[in-house]
Amino acid sequence: MEKLSTQPYKGTRDFYPADMQLRNWFFGVVRRVLETAAFEEYNGPMLESLDLYAAKSGEELADKQTYNFTDRGNRHVAIRPEMTPTVARMVAAKMNDLTFPLKWFSIPNMYRYEATQRGRLREFWQLNVDIFGCDTYEADLDCIIAAINILRAFGADETMFTVRINNRRFFNDVIAAITGKTEDDAKAVSKVVDRRNKVPRDVYEKDLTALGLTAEQIAKLDSLYGMSVREAAALCPASAGAGELLALFEMLEKLGLDRYCVFDFGIVRGLDYYTGTVFEVFDNAPENNRAMFGGGRYDNLVGLFVKNAKISGVGFGMGDVTLENFLITHDLILSSVGGAAKVLVTRFDDVPYEEYLKLTETLRAAGIVSSLYLGSKKFGKQLDYAVKTNCTHICVMGGDELARGVVRVKNLATREERDVPKEEITKAF
Ligand code: HAM
Repeated sequence: MEKLSTQPYKGTRDFYPADMQLRNWFFGVVRRVLETAAFEEYNGPMLESLDLYAAKSGEELADKQTYNFTDRGNRHVAIRPEMTPTVARMVAAKMNDLTFPLKWFSIPNMYRYEATQRGRLREFWQLNVDIFGCDTYEADLDCIIAAINILRAFGADETMFTVRINNRRFFNDVIAAITGKTEDDAKAVSKVVDRRNKVPRDVYEKDLTALGLTAEQIAKLDSLYGMSVREAAALCPASAGAGELLALFEMLEKLGLDRYCVFDFGIVRGLDYYTGTVFEVFDNAPENNRAMFGGGRYDNLVGLFVKNAKISGVGFGMGDVTLENFLITHDLILSSVGGAAKVLVTRFDDVPYEEYLKLTETLRAAGIVSSLYLGSKKFGKQLDYAVKTNCTHICVMGGDELARGVVRVKNLATREERDVPKEEITKAF
């Protein structure tokens, strides 16, 4: 029989222990930043009704990228391609019991049927940060600050990443002013603008022309891409979105955070539910050209579930694939991701097995990562195993040490050895 492949399914990854250690480390850093800013962790199911995405996520994600199937009970089920509809559903289900504004985060895995490429896979872990129940730009700012602080916590500075910010309301108003088009037409234009950097220029122009834009209008749009927030806002001063943008940037400047941020009229976001501020965070290294974070304000997702509900949300998603590329490219991964001591208790035949078990348990009870060698190989083999499994120390307790009430502790990096009284063993690392 032909052997089965050892390769994981296209676009997914196996996480061997070293890979898990890295992922746990960087999401650990992320968790600490968010918990310090009073965000609380939640989670939801991997399977949802397909309708959830059909409603508001937009055609590309819902129809082309969502893995879906019909279950035995004839339900149309989707494997989650994103978390925002789930969190909106969860908030809607308990809206009378929850205290708003609420600040939540989650780090689930997502599945999207994508053309796999650098920074984009079919399974990825995605940090989701969302604030519900705050209608002003203050929550937008809180999310942007969280995104900046996450990258700063790894030691990143403004030369390494850029937060690109726009506003959907403003975008719609500007498109209406340039073309006389309605909000629905502006949505079609936004789809073309969203793909702008992913397709050749002539395709971009052809798509806009097909939507009825003249060469002059396309040129006007071009002039907006390089504008500062004040220049752009001046074109449409009556737009509520312009006011939101100006307030946001003014506060970013006061906080000295504007050095990480730029206004970018080309950021519109591919998902349909955004209604206000939208932003993406990019790695400044050209080889990592896919967005690392993407998010924005969505004013009416909770309303999909509860009639007349008015709970606005704002948030962002950040994938593990692009973050890892960023950390590697800018050399921000700590050389010793693990850090703490890891001990192997070695064994000899002349000492009762339970003595080693008790010693190992004493170490573990003190929170020291430790394992007892499984098996009865020669000491040299046990030492070899300790080195290969990245142990920092070994404990040696033969008949002689046992009789003297000590454990010989060897530091594998410095090769220092010393006898430690058994009662003091937990202080030896
Ligand atoms: P999104 O732009 O689709 O937004 O994804 C956000 C981030 O998830 C991206 O910037 C990227 O880091 C990561 N990501 C997306 N697709 C992939 C992929 N195929 N492979 C690897 N990483 C990927 C959303 O999903 C919104 N639901 C985010 C949000 C939360 N908006 C408000 N709250």
